[in-house]
Amino acid sequence: MRRIAVMTSGGDAPGMNAAIRAVVRVALHCGLEVRGVRRGYAGLLAGQTEELSARSVGGIIQRGGTVLGTAREAAMLMPDGPRQALDVLHREGIDGLVVIGGDGSLRGALALHRLGFPVVGVPASIDNDIYGTDLAIGVDTALNTALEAIDRIKETASSHNRAFIVELMGRHSGYLALMAGLAGGAEMVLIPEVEVDPARVVQELREAYARGKPHFIVVVAEGARYNAARLQQYIEHAEDGVGFETRLTVLGHVLRGGAPTVHDRLLASRLGAEAVAQLAAGVSGVMVGLVKGAETTTDLETVTQRIRAIDPEIYRLADILAA
Ligand code: F6P
Repeated sequence: MRRIAVMTSGGDAPGMNAAIRAVVRVALHCGLEVRGVRRGYAGLLAGQTEELSARSVGGIIQRGGTVLGTAREAAMLMPDGPRQALDVLHREGIDGLVVIGGDGSLRGALALHRLGFPVVGVPASIDNDIYGTDLAIGVDTALNTALEAIDRIKETASSHNRAFIVELMGRHSGYLALMAGLAGGAEMVLIPEVEVDPARVVQELREAYARGKPHFIVVVAEGARYNAARLQQYIEHAEDGVGFETRLTVLGHVLRGGAPTVHDRLLASRLGAEAVAQLAAGVSGVMVGLVKGAETTTDLETVTQRIRAIDPEIYRLADILAA
């Protein structure tokens, strides 16, 4: 192996830059050349690659987003996509690829591996729904951003004796909402994985108001059956009201930006380094991850077939502590 490439793909996540930096510098340290692919698989299919040096990744470890750019590219999942990408990789003299991204990106990586091209995946997605790692890159930063927002909202909520519905990203996964809700002391958490009757939310709001609670925070994942807008509508139509006035805050893409936390920088540096070590050792078709504090590899086949489920005990704990 003489030359490898690195790319970021799918939704960006804080810490992707730290991972790019680690891949580049460890590869150079091992005597490999490195090319950066611009705009994820879209850029790969268009042959947009450039040489990366140790200097070109200087000063990026603390920056959110991805300096390589990213895209959600459906073409890689079409029948011809992987073969076209393979042609570009061969044309550029690239012998191995590190793909930093979430579930869809890792599916693209698997398709290339199936064509015999050496690929290693690095998990990065604020949703934390990727099987094979305790935490994906970006999750810790997103959680801290969500937590800061919830703490702030709680202050204004208490001052006005209001209920707030706070919606966090998580199209299919309630991990962020559950963990931020638990850490932020939310009164209720609604996630896609657990069905909650909105009538129960109304009842809990009324009981909390009657008990004299100064605020009521419901943290909702965007993928929950009752997302924030639907839930607020339901609450506002409740006969005789719920006591509290309600307000709604959707954090959305705010959670995807920002300087990565210490945890994300360390995780990204370790996983980026491990990905290069695996490629250099001749391993392909795996995703590197951190499980119980140790670097691991999991087959991309397994990673893309399974989902990282939420822990029902954590859900139960959030419920108990919300008393
Ligand atoms: O995949 C991560 C994620 O943050 C989801 O939780 C969210 O639904 C989605 O990205 C939004 O993606 P986009 O930036 O393409 O709108």
